[in-house]
Amino acid sequence: MASRPAYLDYQATTPLDPRVLEVMMPYLTEKFGNPHSVNHAFGWEAEAGVEVARGQIANLINVEPRDIIFTSGATEANNMAIKGIAFALHPRKSHVITQETEHKCVLESVRALENMGLRVTILPVDHEGLVDPERLAAEITEQTGLVSIMAVNNEIGTIQPLSEIGAVCKARDVVFHCDAVQGVGRIPIDIQGMHIDAMSLSGHKIYGPKGIGALYLRRTKNPVPLLPILNGGGQEGGLRPGTLSPALCAGMGAACEFMLREGPDELLRIEALGKRFWQELSSDLPEAQLNGSLQSRYWGNLNISFSGIKADRLLSRLKTIALSSGSACATDDANASYVLKAIGLEHGRAEASIRIGIGRQTTVEEMSAAREEIISAVTTLRSS
Ligand SMILES: Cc1ncc(COP(=O)(O)O)c(C=O)c1O
Repeated sequence: MASRPAYLDYQATTPLDPRVLEVMMPYLTEKFGNPHSVNHAFGWEAEAGVEVARGQIANLINVEPRDIIFTSGATEANNMAIKGIAFALHPRKSHVITQETEHKCVLESVRALENMGLRVTILPVDHEGLVDPERLAAEITEQTGLVSIMAVNNEIGTIQPLSEIGAVCKARDVVFHCDAVQGVGRIPIDIQGMHIDAMSLSGHKIYGPKGIGALYLRRTKNPVPLLPILNGGGQEGGLRPGTLSPALCAGMGAACEFMLREGPDELLRIEALGKRFWQELSSDLPEAQLNGSLQSRYWGNLNISFSGIKADRLLSRLKTIALSSGSACATDDANASYVLKAIGLEHGRAEASIRIGIGRQTTVEEMSAAREEIISAVTTLRSS
């Protein structure tokens, strides 16, 4: 079998950490009970696994375990938070604010609210992809109930000014929801200090399994109101019905535990790899452009454009590395990325962008090989 290319698409998904799989295995075999069966040991041991995991997730983000609600992923967590909080606040509050480079599941959730008659404001971002907290403050009215702003952008790695946004929301008594899928375990997030009231997480972006996520929702002190968007049994405190998968929960919990222990060192290593790659690539190809922010950036996500070269032609020449031109959910979209358009990239540049995602398994050697292959492909395409 031909050897597989080096994986450089860590924003799309991350490989399951083998240590996480080990923790999951018993729940796929002998500990098969329904965690909601209260009358026997099979149910109790499955439930115990779920509760350990809830505690591990809560520990990573420094909140109470009770405030963690399991979901099928961040798409569900975002839908649940945005629609569920907006429904609970309606009709007293009927205005929701977000921004234009959010993930589609946030943008489509607010669009659904708009179709139901709520008022929605989508804030613009500047050329680095940053929201202006003063502009946010100016848009808030008596009717505003919810602000949803992401932590780290999945396409360009821009880190939003969460502390400032949280301070604005707190001062105006507006619920602040944050899609932290690309941020948790990658950048420091202080839920209390940043006044985050609700936050979405995904298992498969932190070396855990796919098909599991969580919503942090403050329920212990000064609870955030939320109406469930799914109806069924009373699981997850009546907020998210359905039988939980103990294996997936245990996997996400273990992934969070490893992230808590190893995340800070990992971040330094990834940052060094990203910075060095960009320094060397940009000195060899001075016309290359790093999209997003230089200062407020997660360095494990490098979105780079090469003017005059279509990303799909470039990607088809890169045989030893696996990366993409942007969001995995939009790679079949013929149009250039809405995120790149939002930061003002003209169409030609937006079509010429690739995203390099660096992660836990990425080595110095892989990054050097990737740089050489990209430089050679760009040079060939330029001269053809
Ligand atoms: C910023 C962001 N939000 C939400 C999601 C959706 O996450 P999930 O795959 O867990 O539904 C993703 C996944 O790409 C993402 O990057």
